[in-house]
Amino acid sequence: MQTATFDALRTPAGAALLADATAAYGREDEFALGTRLRRSAGPDLVAAALTQARLRARAVDKFDPADAARMFFTVDGYEQATRVAVARHRAARLAALLRPGAAVADLCCGIGGDLVELARAGLTVTGVEADPVTAAVAAANVAALGLGGAARVKHGDATATDRTAYAAVVCDPARRGSRGRVFDPDAYRPPWSFALELLTATACVKVAPGIPHDLLPGAVEAEWVSERGEVKEAALWSGGLARTGDDGVSVRRRATLLPSGATLTDLDDPGPSVRPLGGFLYEPDGAVIRAGLVTAAAAMVGGGLLDPSIAYVTADDAVGTPFARGYRVVETLPYDVKALRAYVRSRGIGILTVKKRGVGVEPEKLRAAVRPSGDAAATFVVTRVAGKATVIVADPL
Ligand SMILES: C[S@@+](CC[C@H](N)C(=O)[O-])C[C@H]1O[C@@H](n2cnc3c(N)ncnc32)[C@H](O)[C@@H]1O
Repeated sequence: MQTATFDALRTPAGAALLADATAAYGREDEFALGTRLRRSAGPDLVAAALTQARLRARAVDKFDPADAARMFFTVDGYEQATRVAVARHRAARLAALLRPGAAVADLCCGIGGDLVELARAGLTVTGVEADPVTAAVAAANVAALGLGGAARVKHGDATATDRTAYAAVVCDPARRGSRGRVFDPDAYRPPWSFALELLTATACVKVAPGIPHDLLPGAVEAEWVSERGEVKEAALWSGGLARTGDDGVSVRRRATLLPSGATLTDLDDPGPSVRPLGGFLYEPDGAVIRAGLVTAAAAMVGGGLLDPSIAYVTADDAVGTPFARGYRVVETLPYDVKALRAYVRSRGIGILTVKKRGVGVEPEKLRAAVRPSGDAAATFVVTRVAGKATVIVADPL
């Protein structure tokens, strides 16, 4: 989409066209809708209105439906935008540490997913975005959501932005190249060196959840965030934004689970303890695993690791915890496909879930090989127990 087309979409006539497209999208056949709209507007404007309507319909996956219906998107901007629950969590954390109305820069604001929530959290936000259309879309979102008093957007280069006027800086670098997602922080835009520069002051920088721990600068707190069990991002907090425990010791790694907000840190981690399989097995949340806090989760359930390098926890008791999914251990079987097939057949297991960690087993292939059939359900957890590939038959708690 060109800036001129987006501007045309924001004139009264363009807004009426977009309102019609948004209301009709999904109700009328898209081809027929396009034909109807082209009777009163040019093809570029109709194409832009239909793209917005399509993205608004899709955006309910990431945004509150009431916002999605009013917001503007680009395809890339939507895909890179922070999900609302994660953006809200970050904004609330930031707002709790700064005075109300404090000035914050959202460098690389994209279409404004974070920007909007920072403004709603009571901060005064300036978004900076290098792509002109994306910047115009972010500005339109600020206006559409009635946040003009708390947020504004500048088209420009984050790396050239004077940061002295801001109490804190948020930065969510682009992590996509022409061939899709980039995992190497040096390929972020702006690059990792800029993130490191920001992290010498008061900043929050979003990074890919798979960032190697050894790249993390010494003085930051890294927070991995999951939503409903799925890891969404990691954010690095520096300066006054990194937290300390009650005794003043700095938090280095944190896992936060949304929507509950349950949080676990390296200060909760007693360190490794490996033990034999008990009556219960726990599978830690992905954020806990990425944060390297599996042993902290083990401590929460009074358990230990089954193997020092595998993220399964075992304990003698059933303990409710948000940080791990619990299973009762029904029995253990050696990893032998023929014997497993006989086991499945003898128990009429037709609904079979296969999980694995630390062994070179492909769950789908194993499932097919044991030929599930019948009404009974079972979960096989394939992992190493005492160094040997083992199947733990487990019942979700
Ligand atoms: C991951 S997106 C930001 C998403 C945003 N946090 C949201 O929730 O909508 C990164 C954005 O950074 C922008 N960008 C990349 N390099 C930039 C730079 N040097 N200055 C400003 N923006 C930049 C890209 O155009 C892209 O829109």
